[in-house]
Amino acid sequence: MFKSSWLPLAPALGEVLLLNKASNAERRQLVVGNWKMNGNLQQNAALLAKVAAGWQGEHNADVVICPPFPYLMHTNSLLSGSSVLLGAQTVSENDQGAYTGEISCPMLADLNCKFVIIGHNERRRMQGETDEQVARQFVAVHRAGLIPILCVGESLKDREQGRQLETISRQLNAVFAHTGKDVFKNAVLAYEPVWAVGTGKTATPEQAEEVHRFMRAQLGGLASEVRILYGGSVKSHNAQQLFALPDIDGALLGGASLDADEFLAICKAAD
Ligand code: 13P
Repeated sequence: MFKSSWLPLAPALGEVLLLNKASNAERRQLVVGNWKMNGNLQQNAALLAKVAAGWQGEHNADVVICPPFPYLMHTNSLLSGSSVLLGAQTVSENDQGAYTGEISCPMLADLNCKFVIIGHNERRRMQGETDEQVARQFVAVHRAGLIPILCVGESLKDREQGRQLETISRQLNAVFAHTGKDVFKNAVLAYEPVWAVGTGKTATPEQAEEVHRFMRAQLGGLASEVRILYGGSVKSHNAQQLFALPDIDGALLGGASLDADEFLAICKAAD
């Protein structure tokens, strides 16, 4: 499935759906499976065998799996021959040196990683990653020729106070301040409302589309080129409805990426 959207008019949701066909910029849908801290060699082998068999050859959507670091090489070898690409869940802002326990972008590139998730809300909240740190990680990923998947999203409190766009804007601007906007040509954005992650509560299409449209507008001249994923309790039963929205270009999956049938059903919905 290819997406295009028409931004300058900033129309209401219903109007966007109609205007969607008016632009000629096209974006390939992207589905990213973030396994988080799950799996083991045996389970991964079974899951990847099914996924690799189910995603061969040419498609209209890109599919990426981000396993935990220790399983990157194993995952890479089990995906060879399929069209599924490899990604990582986070990375150091430094390229090498005395940083015990850290993993660098050149190491990820060495292992055939193409994508790196950065700024995931679990890392912002549990590891205390700041907007500044995420911006420096973005720069490192870009420097290594990898594609950052920059996650942003508001807390439940922000949402209840109607401050979701303010939070998203702060998180995006922290990166723009380091990089400018041009580098987003080779980046992916992901909107993950914190209150929807792992909770079974998905943002309504209106809530998701409002934020995606806002994020797209922040990208200026690149607005129609950058892929913006939605993440937060996406499952096969709600994926189609989200993917039909003009400013949603795919999904960042947690739980659903651990089940081959569910994962492939979502990939097919994006295809
Ligand atoms: P769930 O799909 O389990 O809600 O997780 C979303 C997520 O955090 C992906 O990065």
